[in-house]
Amino acid sequence: MKILLTGANGFIGGHIRQALEQAGHEITPVSRHYGFDFQRMLTPDDWLPHLQGVDVAINSVGIIAETRGQTFATLHHHAPAALFRACVMAGVMRVVQISALGADEQAFTPYHLSKKAADDVVRSLPLEWFVLRPSLVYGEGGKSSTLFRCMASLPIIPLVGDGKQRIQPVQARDVVATVLQCLQAASARRTLDVVGAYPLTFVEWLQSMRRAAGKKPALTLPIPFGLIMASAHIGRFAAPMLHPDNLRMLQRGNTADVQPLAKFLGRMPLGVGDAP
Ligand SMILES: NC(=O)c1ccc[n+]([C@@H]2O[C@H](COP(=O)([O-])OP(=O)(O)OC[C@H]3O[C@@H](n4cnc5c(N)ncnc54)[C@H](OP(=O)(O)O)[C@@H]3O)[C@@H](O)[C@H]2O)c1
Repeated sequence: MKILLTGANGFIGGHIRQALEQAGHEITPVSRHYGFDFQRMLTPDDWLPHLQGVDVAINSVGIIAETRGQTFATLHHHAPAALFRACVMAGVMRVVQISALGADEQAFTPYHLSKKAADDVVRSLPLEWFVLRPSLVYGEGGKSSTLFRCMASLPIIPLVGDGKQRIQPVQARDVVATVLQCLQAASARRTLDVVGAYPLTFVEWLQSMRRAAGKKPALTLPIPFGLIMASAHIGRFAAPMLHPDNLRMLQRGNTADVQPLAKFLGRMPLGVGDAP
């Protein structure tokens, strides 16, 4: 198949690209690295020349925090919406949108709301669409994975609040397996939460990373949520993951029923600590 893949050099997009190439698909990669800036891809006409003969479009562009010129509205909503509309015009029937767990009716941050806005556009169009909502994704090359591994390696682990936020991290290879399944699934028009086998708390996750590295459990230092939020207004400049909105999303929790994904894949996804 000929597949247009946005974000092809990103963490998730890179894993998807590798698997698609291995499966023999022809890829049209899209991102600034390949000369395409979403800030200038805001109408279907901007996309149409790149959709000739394309069978499937996969959108994996995203940012975790806004910077000057890189806004959620443009990158998550308006440019993908133009792509999806162009897909209808060009006869690209199947579209896979990488959204995020939490981009739902309870969404309250600009990150989640902008993701949901694009999800709503693709869901409204006459396309064979899949909206995939991954939880925290971990694996080779992930920026958040690297940050959390660093935290886990400290002799005393600082925690956001009591560290008992419930999360359900998913391995990058299970996100890839889900995307591959979307290419061949008979029935489309589905929104799927892409989560690991089971939920655990944030502190359990960090301690499990230590175990995997052959280290003993570390002492923890709970930092009151209010204090973390106050310092996050500065910390966000050091690491975008520390933006106050990202901490609020962590505090909300990030879990979902794994059964629909297990049924879609024909197996359970891996859980934290399962060998890949
Ligand atoms: N990682 C996670 O845990 C996680 C969890 C849930 C959902 N997601 C979603 O999954 C998607 C991919 O995330 P990721 O972790 O792979 O992010 P990433 O590693 O930061 O990759 C982001 C991609 O977006 C591209 N990009 C950024 N600005 C662009 C622009 N102005 N125009 C065109 N392309 C642009 C980047 O390439 P260039 O820099 O070359 O432009 C890169 O390919 C995002 O939508 C994210 O919200 C991620």
